[in-house]
Amino acid sequence: MATADTQSSASSLESPGGALPLLDVSNTSKENSAGGTMTPIVVSILIPVILSLALRRRGEKKKNAAVTVDVGGEPGYTVRNHRYLSLLETPWEGANTISALFEDTCKNYSPHPLLGTRELIQRETIKSPDGRPLEKVTLGKFTWQTFGEVFERVQHFSSGLVSLGLKKGEKVAIFAETRAEWFIALQACSRRNATVVTIYASLGDESLAHSLNETEVTTVICDRKQLNKLLDMSAQLETVKRVVYMSDSAIKSEPVLSGASSSWTVEPFAKVESLGKESPVEPDLPSPSDVAVIMYTSGSTGLPKGVMMTHGNLVATVAGVTTAIPNLSPKDIYLAYLPLAHVLELVAEITLSAGGASIGYGTPLTLTDTSNKIKKGTKGDASELQPSLIAAVPAILDRVRDGVRKQVDSAGGLKKQMFELAYNRRVAAIEGRWFGAVGPEKFLWDKLVFGKVRAVLGGRVRGVLSGGAPLSRDTQRFMNVCFGAPVGQGYGLTETCAAATFSEWTDPSVGRVGPPIPSTYIKLIDWDEGGYRTSDTPMPRGEIVLGGPCVTLGYFKNQAKTDEVYKVDERGIRWFYTGDIGRFHPDGCLEIIDRKKDIVKLQHGEYVSLGKVESVMMGSHYLDNCMVHADPFHAYAVAIIVPNQPSLESWAKQAGITFDTYEDLCGKKEAEQEVLSDIGKVCKKGKLEKFEIPAKVKLLSEPWTPETGLVTAALKIKREAIRKAFAEDLKKLYL
Ligand SMILES: *[C@@H]1O[C@H](CO)[C@@H](O)[C@H](O)[C@H]1NC(C)=O
Ligand SMILES: *[C@@H]1O[C@H](CO)[C@@H](O)[C@H](O)[C@H]1NC(C)=O
Repeated sequence: MATADTQSSASSLESPGGALPLLDVSNTSKENSAGGTMTPIVVSILIPVILSLALRRRGEKKKNAAVTVDVGGEPGYTVRNHRYLSLLETPWEGANTISALFEDTCKNYSPHPLLGTRELIQRETIKSPDGRPLEKVTLGKFTWQTFGEVFERVQHFSSGLVSLGLKKGEKVAIFAETRAEWFIALQACSRRNATVVTIYASLGDESLAHSLNETEVTTVICDRKQLNKLLDMSAQLETVKRVVYMSDSAIKSEPVLSGASSSWTVEPFAKVESLGKESPVEPDLPSPSDVAVIMYTSGSTGLPKGVMMTHGNLVATVAGVTTAIPNLSPKDIYLAYLPLAHVLELVAEITLSAGGASIGYGTPLTLTDTSNKIKKGTKGDASELQPSLIAAVPAILDRVRDGVRKQVDSAGGLKKQMFELAYNRRVAAIEGRWFGAVGPEKFLWDKLVFGKVRAVLGGRVRGVLSGGAPLSRDTQRFMNVCFGAPVGQGYGLTETCAAATFSEWTDPSVGRVGPPIPSTYIKLIDWDEGGYRTSDTPMPRGEIVLGGPCVTLGYFKNQAKTDEVYKVDERGIRWFYTGDIGRFHPDGCLEIIDRKKDIVKLQHGEYVSLGKVESVMMGSHYLDNCMVHADPFHAYAVAIIVPNQPSLESWAKQAGITFDTYEDLCGKKEAEQEVLSDIGKVCKKGKLEKFEIPAKVKLLSEPWTPETGLVTAALKIKREAIRKAFAEDLKKLYL
């Protein structure tokens, strides 16, 4: 059965007479019949059309990015990357662990800059308009350390850990915001075959204690701010013996040890480096099957789970992702600011450094010239660094889009018209409509309109890596046009070491996540309850199952949960069952269309996919965030919404609605009605069914941040937490 399935689908993907060429033929014949009464002018227009059609046809045939493959395990529809017959396991021969990869890389690029950090010139606290204290910083240029220098620091720090007393088999936790020392600490631990436990800096105390305790961590490497937190809760940290902290010019006081922490060894990062420099020791290198990282991810419910990633998992991912970033070279500069405890950033930094790129560290609060923490007159991280590559989660890109839109709207008049014109011309070009703005015209718009937008991220971005959640079509298109850079959308999970797919940079379509990277197989399997089957037409659909060397070992000390979602097939390949629903386009690109858990059956039997509705709704300019709720006891869905404050306030002003506070405005019936009606329009445009469109909404005046526990560190909404926090409001929406 399985083989027959695969073979029949293989032919539809690979045969030259597939769906796409057919489409082209019908287009061409339409042009021909339209040309019945041709004048010479029409001919001269038609020639480029036919020419472009001819070119397109060849291009599309080349773009079959994935092909079906015969594999073991559960029957389904499986594809692999078209460029590699077998799965890639390492970026190059011998680079089979993080430490081997890094050592090779440092030899290759020794004199080249690797890690850059900005100098802090001044820090001050001012009063914000509403009276709250606001920190502002003045930052200098990036200072760089070469691959060679960083490698020495890694060796020193690694030996220093031994001087402190780190023994074979002990685990080390890194609990800090993203910065150069994080990267160095990771590499140093790898050279000691010490498993690194990572924890989001925004995780609550209970989760932190749980993670450190469960993994029996003896050594914690943290930043100065987190050190105070650890000292405060030392009584709960039974296994911790030593802490290495990264210095912070904002906290000058010496750490004070008392109670349970008085038996700890607490040393600054630099001290450990100098200890190691004085007494170097031979490295204790890991093997590919050793666990490199146990990454704790905040689940949507309960305590976080630790995902065990081996060295083999990580280098396989690096090998796969590298092939998806064209022309990666030491000329590239990457702006790092996402949390390194998140798999997307961890894999991005390891992959880009392995390609020789330089990594400059920034923070989310100092990213642009107008960022919150940047003192007026100081350059933001992006304009100072002028990166060529940048990673982002969709929520951040949505904000960039909204920011630009707002500026354009408030400029109004001719400027706005010009922006709209330029935007539409470029969209036409990107979508391959022949009359779109190409060549000299593109140059004109770039100069006149988009140059200023690009300057926000430094002006040199050549590619944006997006992951962590699905990116809305609108935002992806917006980034393509305004930044002139492809947005490589990746799909993957912590359990599969981040990227399993990555969209090709030359692919102008939106809403899809690309073909599998060459280190992963992607299989769709039937999900009968949800009505998704691999036999569906026009595209096979089903639950996404990922297989290959990227699939991690499972959850630390949680065999039951591991057995639920991981399986090894009769040929020895590990598979991870994602719970996401996808479909494969004829060119081999995956599109995520649903999530098993997030489908709710309404009272009258219709299914509502919460995630799908939310992503469409986010197209409304009134929305910063939202959660759709539905249950089988009611016939309609409702939504809890965090509105975009400037948008809502400017509407209120225009509509003549008076209000005291923003909170007051959010409570007004008129505001709810306005947002509801805009959502209705957006949802209709997004082709949602009537029953899918929320019938009532509640507007919240407080944003959802990771600190509130309502969204994850990657800014994905946590349904259970939101449902619990706003249970009363949800109840009222159904009255
Ligand atoms: C690395 O450490 C693990 C855990 O202590 C151990 O099982 C493994 O054998 C070590 N690997 C090597 C190559 O020594
Ligand atoms: C840590 O683990 C021990 C046993 O492994 C348990 O007794 C203790 O309650 C745990 N502490 C916390 C804070 O989870």
